[in-house]
Amino acid sequence: MKSIFAFLTVAVFLVSCNPAPKSSKSSKGALTGNAAEKVYVAPGEYDEYYAFISGGFSGQLAVYGLPSGRLFRVIPVFSQDPEKGYGYNEETKPMLNTSHGFIPWGDSHHPDISQTNGELDGRWIFINENNTPRIARISLETFETEEIIEIPNSAGNHSSSFVTENSEYVVAGTRFSVPIPQRDIPISEYKGNFKASLSFLKINPDSGNMNIAFQIRMPGFDYDLSHPGRGKSHGWFFFTTYNTEEAHSLLEVNASQNDKDFVAAVNWKKIEEYVAAGKGHKENVKYAHNTWDDDTHTATSKMENEVWVVNPEDVPGAIYFLPTPKSPHGIDVDPSGEYIVASGKLAAAMTVHSFTKMQKAIEDKAFDGEAYGIPILKFDAVNYGTLEQPGLGPLHTEFDTRGNAYTTFFISSEVVKWNVKDLKVIDRHPVYYSVGHLMIPGGNSRKPFDKYMVAMNKITKDRYLPTGPEVCQSAQLFDISGDKMELLLDFPTIGEPHYAAGIPASILMDKSKKIYKLEDNKHPDAVKTEADTKVVRKGNEVHIYMSMIRSHFSPDNIEGVKVGDKVFFHITNLEQDYDVPHGFAMIGANTAEMLIMPGRTATSVWEPKEVGVWPFYCTDFCSALHQEMQGYVRVSAKGASTPIKYTLDDEIPGTEE
Ligand code: CUA
Repeated sequence: MKSIFAFLTVAVFLVSCNPAPKSSKSSKGALTGNAAEKVYVAPGEYDEYYAFISGGFSGQLAVYGLPSGRLFRVIPVFSQDPEKGYGYNEETKPMLNTSHGFIPWGDSHHPDISQTNGELDGRWIFINENNTPRIARISLETFETEEIIEIPNSAGNHSSSFVTENSEYVVAGTRFSVPIPQRDIPISEYKGNFKASLSFLKINPDSGNMNIAFQIRMPGFDYDLSHPGRGKSHGWFFFTTYNTEEAHSLLEVNASQNDKDFVAAVNWKKIEEYVAAGKGHKENVKYAHNTWDDDTHTATSKMENEVWVVNPEDVPGAIYFLPTPKSPHGIDVDPSGEYIVASGKLAAAMTVHSFTKMQKAIEDKAFDGEAYGIPILKFDAVNYGTLEQPGLGPLHTEFDTRGNAYTTFFISSEVVKWNVKDLKVIDRHPVYYSVGHLMIPGGNSRKPFDKYMVAMNKITKDRYLPTGPEVCQSAQLFDISGDKMELLLDFPTIGEPHYAAGIPASILMDKSKKIYKLEDNKHPDAVKTEADTKVVRKGNEVHIYMSMIRSHFSPDNIEGVKVGDKVFFHITNLEQDYDVPHGFAMIGANTAEMLIMPGRTATSVWEPKEVGVWPFYCTDFCSALHQEMQGYVRVSAKGASTPIKYTLDDEIPGTEE
């Protein structure tokens, strides 16, 4: 009953406030049969697309199939993940190191897939962390996080992590301005003293490794979202700003004063040349740069201590402000690179700027003053037009290949399809409810795959079975191949789904990694055969070099460990078959289990507190004899003389026969 009521409320709202086009297939009955067929992926069949949906405050990135909405995997990125041992085993702990020390959690926001010539190449996916500013790079062969770099001189890393069309750069931008460098000053002295940073991270085209090429020191506004130019506007990057008022308290009022805030247009090619000429200045900072080595299966964390900084006023012609109503959130550039669409949260209309007009305005010096040395272009000189009264609270826009834009409206809970060139609404569809981002696979590239669109909703109220005070957040799948958007499916998501990136399965599935070759395993503590397994005491450290294969550990009986020892289990999975990980768990270990992939080595630390004989076992149901995959460690008293002894079937491993 409640759901019908809510549905009617939305429908009534739409009719009364948006009289123009009639809502498509607004009855649920029309939706059922046809929609079910469209999302049904028969048992044993594959989905057509991968969707990588950010986990928001879970700190992770979840992988779904489209059109089924089935969840395949949660890739641990910024948070510890006991399911996989990420951030718990010794090899992955350094991935979560920062200048603030080890941080077990992050707030992940905007995934973006690497591109070549403006098309998705499916090599890596990048995602930003908002709270302790970081950007991560994830391999789309292994679906593992390979690199995390912290962003210094930054706070609230929100306008991230979008890539340029040849993956030259991945970009990070400050949401919160802060004193730079950080210092002890009254908050009331915000104006003029707090600054922002836009950071350009160079991507190594072969390895994918990131390094901060330069930071641009910007006025103390809030930089909300960003988008690269493409095609004709390749070489530019666009950022929305709000709080151009530079308020420091009660921003909901004080940062909503100006009729127009700015879109910052950054000519990064110009700044790149400036930096290449040795110009700009070095600043001392401290930030962690964590890299995963796929040969040793081990992460290292390095503390970096300088960054190259550029002041906009020193590089004339590199940065302009485009006046844009009002507190714009999303900024999106259409596949042609011409139209720059800004979603003014508090504006009555959608603002579309023209890249061609912007260039002309720059040439004509059509300025309307400046802010902190950055020229402000005249609104009329850059504006292509506005889409009047499309809905309430626009947030984000994606594009298809047919000249259409799809914009989410948070307050009126709908997605509106409109033609960018004509500035005319074509269709609108309610979403349930309060939609944030939306995603069309490849929607950030020059070549969107415009069959499906996913809307990500902040509130779901009555859409799912109640589960206590918190109802799951969710995504909704639409078919956008026709003139009208058709709602196909609701599916729950992990954490808060901020944004997503989608890619045809055909680009990724054949190169997905199946095993790690044992002969390529360069982990210093790896064992390649059972005969290599051993236990070595080094002072109060006991190092157990252990193997696992269906369905036993070697060794599986270990004696001579004492209370007060620090026990390192260095465990290698000797399997060389696809989809045969083994797990490892030790009773009382103050850490997670470990899930070890075929051919890999991982290390778990255990500090036994009590005398006794303590079992360990495999956590992953690996064979019919999985339950037999277990062993014991005998722990003697501190100071006892029990010698180190390790056996498998009562023999030293490798010595039987
Ligand atoms: Cu190995 Cu279960």
